[in-house]
Amino acid sequence: MKIATTVLETRNTVKNWRKEGYTVGLVPTMGFLHEGHASLIKKCREQNDKVVVSVFVNPTQFGPNEDLEAYPRDLEKDKALCESLGADLIFHPEPSEMYKNPKTYMNIEGLSDNLCGKSRPIHFKGVCTVVSKLFNIVSPDRAYFGQKDAQQLAIIKKMVQDMNFDVEVVGCPIVREEDGLAKSSRNTYLSDEERKAALCLSKSVKKGMEIIKEGISAKEVLDEMKKVINQEPLAKIDYVSMVDSLTMEDVETVDRDVLVAMAVYIGKTRLIDNFSFEVK
Ligand code: PAJ
Repeated sequence: MKIATTVLETRNTVKNWRKEGYTVGLVPTMGFLHEGHASLIKKCREQNDKVVVSVFVNPTQFGPNEDLEAYPRDLEKDKALCESLGADLIFHPEPSEMYKNPKTYMNIEGLSDNLCGKSRPIHFKGVCTVVSKLFNIVSPDRAYFGQKDAQQLAIIKKMVQDMNFDVEVVGCPIVREEDGLAKSSRNTYLSDEERKAALCLSKSVKKGMEIIKEGISAKEVLDEMKKVINQEPLAKIDYVSMVDSLTMEDVETVDRDVLVAMAVYIGKTRLIDNFSFEVK
């Protein structure tokens, strides 16, 4: 497995693979890899001749008061995991390699206004910008994203359609801890007490999945879900919402495919979870 820190080296490696006729898959990550990331890398390994994992804590997707500095990093552990899963290349650039006084950004309208975009106004502009750059640097046949970040996945799919990126976006299911908590690099911020409290997110998701059905009002589902979270004293709801799966706009009734998503503060740590429901 190769580690590349520059755009040029990555491009040259991929060009040589292309000459040999190999297909290339990309798994974009911010590192501190866990089994959620591993599931994406495994899927990528199955479907492509060559597997590229990018490990880059992208500064442009963090707001001024967010956790850019504190975000956990462990490249040695990430390397070992990628190697064990059969990755061919890790792209691990410095911020200065990716951003040279940029004046150009990728922006997406509408889909980024609701849910996480509401409380993190510049977040998806940063995500779309870095993912576009990664697509241009690696030019993968396929790229892998988790349902854990469901709004991100919907936004990337729309961006690829709108901008004619020649890449297939593959969505992968949420990987959870045994007790239900969705795996996240940010779970490391939780104290023991907070770790227990964090279960209110997956419990609320479970509740929602039990009661949702075609024709039910969003309010009825969301009220029950919020009740579960509000029983937990350490939890503070940022949002619990039901939106159209494609547009990310609020819906009143389950009359189309919907995403039910939440962001909840457990102490200072903001965690997310969600589920999707398809109308037959
Ligand atoms: P990061 O949070 O490192 O996540 C990288 C990918 O792993 C994302 O597609 C995310 O949805 C997926 N993932 C994380 N936890 C998961 C879980 N428990 N189950 C399934 N998939 C999971 O998302 C980002 O990084 C960044 O925004 C990025 C796309 C790399 C752009 O900087």
